[in-house]
Amino acid sequence: MLLPQFIRQAACELEALYPPGEAQSLARRLAEDLQGVKPYEWVINPSLEASPLLEDGLKRLLAGEPVQYVTGFEVFFGRRFRVAPGVLIPRPETEILVREACVQALRLEQPRVLDLCTGSGCIAWSIALEVPGAQVVGVDLSDEALAVARVQIPVDLHTEGPYEGGLCANQACFAHAPLFVKADILSAFGSASCAWPQGPYDILTANPPYIRESEKALMHRNVLEHEPAMALFVPDDDPLVFCRAIARHAMALLAPGGWGIVEINEALGPQTADVFAAAGLRNVGILDDFLGKQRFVTFNR
Ligand SMILES: C[S@@+](CC[C@H](N)C(=O)[O-])C[C@H]1O[C@@H](n2cnc3c(N)ncnc32)[C@H](O)[C@@H]1O
Repeated sequence: MLLPQFIRQAACELEALYPPGEAQSLARRLAEDLQGVKPYEWVINPSLEASPLLEDGLKRLLAGEPVQYVTGFEVFFGRRFRVAPGVLIPRPETEILVREACVQALRLEQPRVLDLCTGSGCIAWSIALEVPGAQVVGVDLSDEALAVARVQIPVDLHTEGPYEGGLCANQACFAHAPLFVKADILSAFGSASCAWPQGPYDILTANPPYIRESEKALMHRNVLEHEPAMALFVPDDDPLVFCRAIARHAMALLAPGGWGIVEINEALGPQTADVFAAAGLRNVGILDDFLGKQRFVTFNR
């Protein structure tokens, strides 16, 4: 089938699941990402054949799979990151966390950064690539997430240049690849039992699971059926379980004066801030996301 015809047909079929504008852009994204064509190519060359890969991609989209799992990547903080089923797809609001962490880290020489609940490693890699000399450790319990985080080759979308073996060629700076460690942050406490390097760290970042089970009803089917539950949900009767653990790690592992930022449930801002203050952290504050929702807690050790 010709590519323009495939895109038209795919967009029509996808309207069964998505609004027309989104269906259209998903059909185009399949063509661009799976076949590697630029948006204008099928316009100036209407006799271009559709790759057989597209048919399979369309089937997966029609089964409700997120487009990022079908194409294998998502764009985050200006770079293309690998994702795969079993690994949370990075969300745009988490870019705010990275920006704030980079502002803090860029003030320091060779800052040591701990990223808890690292998932695809999008936070850990972004900081490592943005901040010259940063030494970043990412921690997660999921083998699938760690397998993806360890083999990321973040591609800078401004230059199309990949990260290359220890040299961040795009920014003409040396970058250390993050170290990724498997650990359960709910059970590993204190220097004897922690599986990750004991720091002290200058900066702590975390985007832990924070959606209450009861909030599932508000969520999209393709998230519920395809993204990993362990990356998303916390029990209704103890929604701040991860934040309490992160606060304890912050107290144990941050250097005095060290700084932290944690992504949180927008409905639990003040309670979450209280958890960090009660653990002994100072200057606890709340930051909003692009939509004015209370989305991050920041603090100093
Ligand atoms: C919301 S996702 C964040 C992923 C990534 N940092 C991001 O921003 O896209 C939460 C992550 O926490 C991990 N996780 C869940 N329970 C954990 C635990 N007990 N210990 C360590 N990591 C855990 C999940 O595997 C998942 O990768």
